[in-house]
Amino acid sequence: MTSQDGRVQSMFNRVNRSYDRVNALMTMGRHAQWCREVAKRADLAVTGRLLDIATGTGEIALAARRRYPGAEIYGVDFSENMLAEARRKPGAENIEWEFADAHQLRFEDESFDAVTHGYLLRNVSDVERVLREQYRVLKPGGRVVVLETSPPRGLLKLVLSAGMSVVLPLLGQLIAKDREAYTYLKSSTLGFMTPDEVARVMERVGFRGVDWSTKYFGTNVIMWGHKP
Ligand SMILES: C[S@@+](CC[C@H](N)C(=O)[O-])C[C@H]1O[C@@H](n2cnc3c(N)ncnc32)[C@H](O)[C@@H]1O
Repeated sequence: MTSQDGRVQSMFNRVNRSYDRVNALMTMGRHAQWCREVAKRADLAVTGRLLDIATGTGEIALAARRRYPGAEIYGVDFSENMLAEARRKPGAENIEWEFADAHQLRFEDESFDAVTHGYLLRNVSDVERVLREQYRVLKPGGRVVVLETSPPRGLLKLVLSAGMSVVLPLLGQLIAKDREAYTYLKSSTLGFMTPDEVARVMERVGFRGVDWSTKYFGTNVIMWGHKP
């Protein structure tokens, strides 16, 4: 783990209690809907196996649990405090929650039918390595579905950048009592790769049929692909 990953880990270990509230505010309540869409696009068979990486407070894993009651669902993250929030939620008892660094998964090659993740890539030190790990653990024909932020452009970028500079540290201060954590959110959101750039890395590691649907004025994106 690099020092950048260590800082991210320590930040998520601090914001765990406020994460869901701030996330709902930031996405105007749309996050839950996007998690359901991610689960749907994973297109799991009745008894399939799904791995949700960077599961955090577990929203995507829980959406998958509800959609595929007969499937085997894993939710993994490198923040124990975020996992503790996930474990407290209704339905959590039917999910395997585990500590894992996305750069180095303990799972065997070709052992999952679907891999999902929300807001992982913009937080990691090595996007390509993380996607390669996902490709490795997927079975041939398996699907990857990604929820990410997407950097806004033009006037929207100016407006959002100004808004986030004021609103995020304030939210951080008021709700999480942690200004720095939410200031990081601004830089990681506005500075991240475009869907087009992420798609190129996905294709480089071997994924095919890569495509995406942008959300919320292009500020968020759901991307998908499969392992041939
Ligand atoms: C913004 S939260 C997203 C949580 C959840 N997926 C969602 O959509 O609400 C990002 C999560 O990624 C986790 N994370 C970041 N880097 C990671 C890494 N290298 N390995 C595992 N988890 C990581 C953090 O601990 C945090 O829980």
